[in-house]
Amino acid sequence: MLPIALLMIEHRLIEQMIVVIRKEIDRCESEGNINPEFIDAAIDFIRIYADKCHHGKEEDILFRDLHKKELPDELKGIVSELIEEHQLGRKVVRDLVEAKRKYIRGDKQALPAILDSLRYMTDFYPKHIEKEDKHFFLPCMNYFTSEEKEALLKEEWEFDKNLIHQIYKEKISAWNTNSK
Ligand SMILES: [Fe+2]
Ligand SMILES: [Fe+2]
Repeated sequence: MLPIALLMIEHRLIEQMIVVIRKEIDRCESEGNINPEFIDAAIDFIRIYADKCHHGKEEDILFRDLHKKELPDELKGIVSELIEEHQLGRKVVRDLVEAKRKYIRGDKQALPAILDSLRYMTDFYPKHIEKEDKHFFLPCMNYFTSEEKEALLKEEWEFDKNLIHQIYKEKISAWNTNSK
């Protein structure tokens, strides 16, 4: 199994979540309200699965090792674009968290901002995924030996294995800090 296969399998689940988010946008637009529980679930999925777990493996393992290679300018350019897109995705989640907080406090004017963030995600993720799947992942593999590819995959499994522990350590540390 190639290290990119694991990332591509994760792309398929992100795509399924995008379909769910699109349906919720349609419902919000027709009924003029949001389901706060759904927004929390969407934020959780995007932050934990799409960003920490998936983008985490891309940035901390694949891109890290690609930076050590002599890549052609085109691939180097795509790596920079992908990192920028990940950062923009994080900003949109922060905007969504803030807009949802306002909405919950009674500011119904925050609804368009919530919908804008959700729409951005449903637009951004499919394009970002297509760029990686069709124009980036496979050409990148040419720069790694079989042993290096095996090591990358092993590190990805290791990353996933440690993630749940890291997430809860961070949560408890944040709760402890907030309660001081
Ligand atoms: Fe990515
Ligand atoms: Fe990806």
